[in-house]
Amino acid sequence: MTLTRIPRSAIALAALAVVGIYLFATAPADLDEDSVGARDVPVETLFRLLNAENASIRKIYTAEIVTPGQKAGLRFHEDWKRKDVHAGPLPALLLRETANRLQQRVPELSLFLGSSYPIEVTNKFKGAQQTYFEQIEKDRQPKFFLDASTGRQTAMFADIASAPACVTCHNDHPKSPRKDWKQNDVMGATTWSFPRDKLSTDEVIAILAAYRASALDAYDAYLKKTAGFDDKERPKVGPQWPKDGLFVPDAGTFRDRVEAQNSIASLNLLLDLRAPARRELAGARGGGDKRAQDGAAAPGKSGSAP
Ligand code: HEC
Repeated sequence: MTLTRIPRSAIALAALAVVGIYLFATAPADLDEDSVGARDVPVETLFRLLNAENASIRKIYTAEIVTPGQKAGLRFHEDWKRKDVHAGPLPALLLRETANRLQQRVPELSLFLGSSYPIEVTNKFKGAQQTYFEQIEKDRQPKFFLDASTGRQTAMFADIASAPACVTCHNDHPKSPRKDWKQNDVMGATTWSFPRDKLSTDEVIAILAAYRASALDAYDAYLKKTAGFDDKERPKVGPQWPKDGLFVPDAGTFRDRVEAQNSIASLNLLLDLRAPARRELAGARGGGDKRAQDGAAAPGKSGSAP
């Protein structure tokens, strides 16, 4: 039997079930040397997969929660963790929350959002990272290198001002060294590092699962925070989104959205680890992409590295 005889929808469902099991497995990542297969996946592949996930979640949070949320009366602030501040995390701080949780699950991996013109001085690039960032500002292409100063495999992906809120908030911020950001500027780079240059497929999947669990936990920390807001500024947590008013999606709704955006893209990248020719075959058959059919509200393709 050839692949073409199986209905595409059946393949997609089976594939989603598999990737769902992997990505949402709640067991902590087991990176025990003995339990993993051959370490033949280049770390660049791990970085690309992580970046696709991270960019997509960052986009959902900024464009579907922070931007419409501010219009609906929600606030997002750098001091969001203080008891007396009734606000949620800025996009950069949701990322930091994710990074902190990820570090606990996968201590070898680090994630950091830096810039040459940071609001927060500790986010400023140094050394080789500054040099690579200057190239990214010009060509917007991801960079993969061994950072001699840290001895770690490093990847940097452009962080683009994709929403008007990125620009206005940074330009208006008293600590911002730049006041002339424009939409679509390269504002910084998401920077990952890992000590080894090769991993097993099992390790890649475990790390991806750990990333997604960390991001969903970070979002959950925001939901918990909203419970303490005053009545008139407390969003209703449920199936609705801030575009409809003072609402924020509950953990399950947010996770479904992330899953709808990311799972197929991530699965395709994962399958490419084993069968690089698969994509060309699919392309030759002229198979369309059905990702948008499940009623996901926001347009745009997810998961592709910037
Ligand atoms: C409501 C305000 C606000 C919005 C919206 C916002 N940022 Fe930021 N951003 C900040 C603040 C404040 C920091 C510093 C946070 C920290 O590390 O303490 C920051 C940090 C960053 C950093 C790390 C370097 C630095 O400046 O410290 C980058 C890069 C960045 N933001 C890019 C973006 C992009 C791209 C968007 C839109 C997708 C965005 N920001 C949306 C306020 C904002």
